[in-house]
Amino acid sequence: MLAGRRITLIIGGGIAAYKCLELIRLLRGAGSAVTPVLTAGGAQFVTPLSVAALAGERVFQDLFDLKDEAEMGHIELSRAADLLVVAPATADLMAKMAGGHADDLASTLLMATDKRVLIAPAMNVRMWEHPATQRNLAMLTGDGVLTVGPNAGDMACGEFGPGRMAEPSEIMAAIGAALGDGPLKGRHVIVTSGPTHEPIDPVRYIANRSSGAQGAALAAALRDLGARVSFITGPASVPPPAGVAVTRVETAVAMRDAALAALPADAAICAAAVADWRVANAGAQKIKKGAAGLPVLEFAENPDILTTLSTHAQRPALVVGFAAETEDVAAHATAKRARKGCDWIVANDVSPATGIMGGAENAVTLITADGAEDWPRLPKAEVARRLAARIAEALA
Ligand code: CTP
Repeated sequence: MLAGRRITLIIGGGIAAYKCLELIRLLRGAGSAVTPVLTAGGAQFVTPLSVAALAGERVFQDLFDLKDEAEMGHIELSRAADLLVVAPATADLMAKMAGGHADDLASTLLMATDKRVLIAPAMNVRMWEHPATQRNLAMLTGDGVLTVGPNAGDMACGEFGPGRMAEPSEIMAAIGAALGDGPLKGRHVIVTSGPTHEPIDPVRYIANRSSGAQGAALAAALRDLGARVSFITGPASVPPPAGVAVTRVETAVAMRDAALAALPADAAICAAAVADWRVANAGAQKIKKGAAGLPVLEFAENPDILTTLSTHAQRPALVVGFAAETEDVAAHATAKRARKGCDWIVANDVSPATGIMGGAENAVTLITADGAEDWPRLPKAEVARRLAARIAEALA
């Protein structure tokens, strides 16, 4: 899949740099050539010797190395690859990239390249969550830089949260996707995600507590396998992933229209928490309190997007729904699968005792024509990756 490709791997200065040795091994095993670039910080964590030994090539470290320039100028070096990968991408490297700095070899290559760039951020959780880093991330994403991770978990610094660099296998998948090489290459997948907002009047609305986390993770996992993803999202609190076509909607009706406009597709995954009803007598002007007394809202049923796609003349080959249940999960979800006419239902128990709603993990039961399959409790990103892999299998 990655055979015959060349990856320029920029290793930044973070403890996660040690994982790059494994990444180089995986890339070489897949038939890719690796041009390693070690920053001054990176060289504090891994030695040029171990990087060169695994890559089977010399390591580039200095911008003003006349020998390097004589052999291969830095402009040429920045372009002699199919993809630039920055791992670990430290807060400092991200800031340099966002600011357009070119004061060392790594930042200069990143400025001079005409190739796509994939970053695998890794840093302390507070540094990751700092507004400056999030600002830089938004700028980089806007510039078309691809990202993989970071993951949440225990960190080398003793804290817990997002900031751990993605695992080498995940970076491999992202590299494959960036090069358009995954098992879903050439496939189009529609993903609905997040809550819907149903207006009461121009300033008020009815909503639900969906964060859109599972839908966003799923879109990213499908993208990482090479799919072209149409991501149709309500007003979610989690940002949409990079590298997918985003359509932002507010209402269920607008979400249905966007989903239909995205057809034809090979698969549709309805992960959105769509409002079942909308306000039929929504005010054209802000409803005032006063003489008219308490407003009375009348409701109309919203279209069921999952059923609409399942029964459409251009029905995708695979239609997947979600079901949040609080009891008899498998039985309710099996009935829902039949009622909605979809192929699979991804069901989960959202009883408060499970801590799943709003949490980082999910324990799902996959309902297919063959019955119910209980998956172990896993991080939501891992559930997304497993589901994406199953979707790739089903469409193969
Ligand atoms: N769904 C949809 N359009 C709607 C309502 C739900 O596409 N108007 C989809 C959801 O995206 C999800 C699935 O249907 O994939 C199940 O949603 P859920 O809210 O669990 O189902 P309901 O039909 O609302 O069933 P109930 O509330 O009775 O459990």
